[in-house]
Amino acid sequence: MSLDIFRDERGFLSRAREIAEKIRFLIDEGSKFLVICHVDADGLSSGAIVSAMLLRDNARFVTRAVGEFEDALKYLVDLPAAYIPILVDMGSGYLNELSKLSPSRPIIILDHHEPMGSAPANVIQLNPHFHGINGSEEVSGAGVAYLVAKALNEENILLSPVAVTGALGDLQDRFDGRSLHGFNERIVEDAVKAGLLRVEEDLLFYGRSSKPIHVAMASTMNPFIVGISGNEANAYSLLTEIGIRVKDDDRWRVLSELSEDEKKQLYNGILKYLASLGLPPSMARELVGKVYELTMEEPWTYLRDAREFASLLNACGKTGNEWLGISIAMGGRGALLEEAQRVLEDYRRRLAEAIEYAMRDECRQELKNLLVIDGGGVIDDRLISSVASMLSSMGLQGDKHILVALAQSEDSIKVSARASRKLVEMGLNLGKLLAEVAELVGGRGGGHDVAAGASIPKTRKALFLLELDRAVEEKLSGTR
Ligand code: C5P
Ligand code: ZN
Repeated sequence: MSLDIFRDERGFLSRAREIAEKIRFLIDEGSKFLVICHVDADGLSSGAIVSAMLLRDNARFVTRAVGEFEDALKYLVDLPAAYIPILVDMGSGYLNELSKLSPSRPIIILDHHEPMGSAPANVIQLNPHFHGINGSEEVSGAGVAYLVAKALNEENILLSPVAVTGALGDLQDRFDGRSLHGFNERIVEDAVKAGLLRVEEDLLFYGRSSKPIHVAMASTMNPFIVGISGNEANAYSLLTEIGIRVKDDDRWRVLSELSEDEKKQLYNGILKYLASLGLPPSMARELVGKVYELTMEEPWTYLRDAREFASLLNACGKTGNEWLGISIAMGGRGALLEEAQRVLEDYRRRLAEAIEYAMRDECRQELKNLLVIDGGGVIDDRLISSVASMLSSMGLQGDKHILVALAQSEDSIKVSARASRKLVEMGLNLGKLLAEVAELVGGRGGGHDVAAGASIPKTRKALFLLELDRAVEEKLSGTR
């Protein structure tokens, strides 16, 4: 059944206002807050939006970013009585766990993950799914947080570009022409109206107005172009082969200076290159689309392009520098930004290495419905989610298989799974499947229909994969 039947944008917005009023009441009462968010780009954007909102209204608060819901739970169990928790970009998937906590204190959840279980009475929740709006496609955790922030104080419209960044971080630009759609469009409109954002159609290389073209190509990780992403020398050779002039006298040219004809020439050259590697041309289509430009940011920084901003936050989150990401999304610049840019560059190098490794035959295993990429103990478990997203953006698993990437940490295996839209249209919901199968083997999982994750005991890998394969088969057997 289509969600549209129940679609109630007004109800969603009025619930945001109710929650903002509740927060206003708690602030006035002198409550302190504990903001808990995820470590990914949307998570840090969300955490930053709620933190900036509280700061603007002189509330007292502490913010923590966590990788797993379990870590959030640890904070909640020991939380002093004076604090009200605000879970952002997380929580809705773990409602049953929250009912085990003390019922006397309110728990605020601002999330876009599909709700699972039933919420105890003390939970105050804003989630688009309750209003017929698909949270995995058209509004991010940061978007949900932004709605409440704006309802609390109109000045928080200044945070709209951060909400756009969160949506791009969660890859919600999966639609035609790599654009955000649905509810996200309203947030984009806010940002454009406030003069903070410009939206344009272009080639989506990172650093299109700040970096030499070959560097921009090598910095582009989504889609991941084998041999080019992470490899400036190859990108340079490809450019000269295609016949694009890379310098004007001594000055490197940037992508935004190329004429329309040169851009077409470059695009066609990349198509040819992909074909020579046997990769689908559909990948190149991912290279063209809407660019979301943060007009108030300096052109030479990683914050000017919202996709790059998201990568920067993601890199901070995946390297233990969450605080740095949150500070920047809250508006911190100067030395903080310099440090974060270094973190991103280092992270990109490591990610490109991890992907080269993941592409080796020895990492690959094919089951009936799964393409398993096992990074073993070699790929850092904090990188595996990005590796899964990149490989899936390359279309590695095709339309019929689910991509399942694994990495081993000290005591568990981190699982990151990605499915095509086609499988989702056939009724598959990865988040639900991973939650069920992970639980079956003594782990924990969840997420969205197209992208989900889990953490399972080290000894249960084979069983987990078999059960997941079987569960997918069962789900799809009636439909093909
Ligand atoms: O970690 P990864 O990016 O692969 O996760 C994809 C999605 O699944 C994220 O939205 C994350 O919040 C969710 N997830 C979850 N429970 C886990 C791991 C991931 O809900 N144990
Ligand atoms: Zn999110």
